[in-house]
Amino acid sequence: MRALVTGAAGFIGSHLSEALAAEGHEVVGVDSFTDYYDPERKHENAQALHVLEADLVTADLDALLEGVEGVFHLAGQPGVRASFGPGFELYVERNVHASGRLFEAAARRGVRVVYASSSSVYGDAETYPTREDTAPRPISPYGVTKLCVEQLAYAHARVTGLEAVGLRYFTVYGPRQRPDMAFTPLLEALADGTTFRLFGDGSASRSFTFVGDAVAGTLAVMERGRPGEIYNVGGGEEATMADAIALAESIAGRTLALERHGAAAGDVRRTRADVGKAARELGWAPATPLVEGLRAQWAWVAARVAAA
Ligand SMILES: NC(=O)c1ccc[n+]([C@@H]2O[C@H](COP(=O)([O-])OP(=O)(O)OC[C@H]3O[C@@H](n4cnc5c(N)ncnc54)[C@H](O)[C@@H]3O)[C@@H](O)[C@H]2O)c1
Repeated sequence: MRALVTGAAGFIGSHLSEALAAEGHEVVGVDSFTDYYDPERKHENAQALHVLEADLVTADLDALLEGVEGVFHLAGQPGVRASFGPGFELYVERNVHASGRLFEAAARRGVRVVYASSSSVYGDAETYPTREDTAPRPISPYGVTKLCVEQLAYAHARVTGLEAVGLRYFTVYGPRQRPDMAFTPLLEALADGTTFRLFGDGSASRSFTFVGDAVAGTLAVMERGRPGEIYNVGGGEEATMADAIALAESIAGRTLALERHGAAAGDVRRTRADVGKAARELGWAPATPLVEGLRAQWAWVAARVAAA
C-alpha cells in the first residue's frame, strides 16, 4: 500500500517507515524537523528515507494524501516535563491542532488513520496492569493533549466518518531513542564518562517497550485494529529506573556517575501495560526482553559517541 507516515524523521516514525519500506510498501514520509530536540538527530534518523519537510498545521494535506491508503500519524510534540509552562502552546499546536487538521483531511478522502497516543493519558492509573478502559486521568499537559487527540478522533468518527484507530505507546526505547528520554542520556553518560541526571529516587517503574515491538504493534493496529478502538502497545516487562541503571552498567561494563534530582513534574510513579486486548484482537505481544533491547541501544549509542 501507499502509506503516509507523519513524524517520519522521529524516533519511532523512522523505524516504522523503514519497516514499511522493507515490507514493500510505498512510504510517503513527512516531518517538520522541530527543534524540540536537535534536528540533526532527525536528519540522521531519516538517512535511509525520503522525508518531505512540511508542517501538518499549514501543509496542503489533501495533496499529501493523494493516492494514500493508510496514514500512520506519529507526528507530535512529545515529552512530559516541557509541557508545563510556556511550552504548552506548542503541545496544543502540534498535538491537537495538527491532528485535528489531519483527521478532517483523512475523513474527506476516506483514508484510514492509525494515530499515536500515550500511556500518559492514564496518569497515576487506578489499576495495574492498566487496561484501555481505565479512566484516563493525565497528570501532565502533554497527557491532556494526547487525550484530546483521542477525543478528536472519536468526534470525527461520529460526525465526519473518519476511520481511526489509536494506540497508546508505553515508554519506547532502543536505537534512535529521543535524547530527552532516560536511556539515551544514561547510555551516553556511560559511553563518554559524563554524569547522568537522575530524576526521582530510582524507584519509579515503567513498561519499557522496545522500538521493534512498538513498530510491530503499530503495523498490527493498521492491519487488524477495529475502527474507533484504542490499543495499549507496551512492553511485557516492568522495571524500575534503578533496575535499568544496573542493567545498563552491566552491559557497558562500567559504573555510572549519577547526579540526583527530585522527581520531575508530570512524571508518573508507575506504568504497566495490560496488553491482553492487543493480544486477543491483533495477535500482537511484546517479544524483546529489556536486556536485549538495552544491548541494541547501547551498541547504537556507543557507535555514535565513538564517531563524534
Ligand atoms: N517515544 C515514546 O516512548 C512515546 C510514548 C508515548 C507516545 N509517543 C508518541 O509517539 C509519537 C512519536 O514519538 P517519538 O518518540 O518518535 O517522538 P519524536 O519527537 O522523535 O518524533 C515526532 C516527530 O514529529 C515531528 N513533528 C512534530 N510536530 C509536527 C508537525 N506539526 N508537522 C510535522 N511533523 C511534526 C517532529 O519533528 C518529530 O520528528 C509522538 O506522537 C509521541 O507523542 C511516544
